[in-house]
Amino acid sequence: MAEQITRKQLIDKLNDDLCREYQAIIAYVVYSQVLKGAEYMSIAKELEKHATHELQHAIKVARHIDYLGGMPNATPKPVNRSRSTKSNLATALGEEVPDVSEMAAPRR
Ligand SMILES: [Fe+2]
Repeated sequence: MAEQITRKQLIDKLNDDLCREYQAIIAYVVYSQVLKGAEYMSIAKELEKHATHELQHAIKVARHIDYLGGMPNATPKPVNRSRSTKSNLATALGEEVPDVSEMAAPRR
């Protein structure tokens, strides 16, 4: 049986998701620009694309929060930054998280 949650709990979960979307946007913007070395340039371009995808996710989540009567958060989760390409790539891969909005948003 599916767990029942209140509207407030759903808004809180979506706002938490929104903070992670902001985190991902920032991470992909930063990592795409600080990667060094010709072998990483195609990855950098991919990270730029991911930044725009995450922005679309953030807009979608914020729309759902507003639809539910909540106020979208404006604060990202912290972003790890490093001059180490390997560290940034490992973090970038770790930033991928399932979107609560994909599971909980009303279907249209
Ligand atoms: Fe996302």
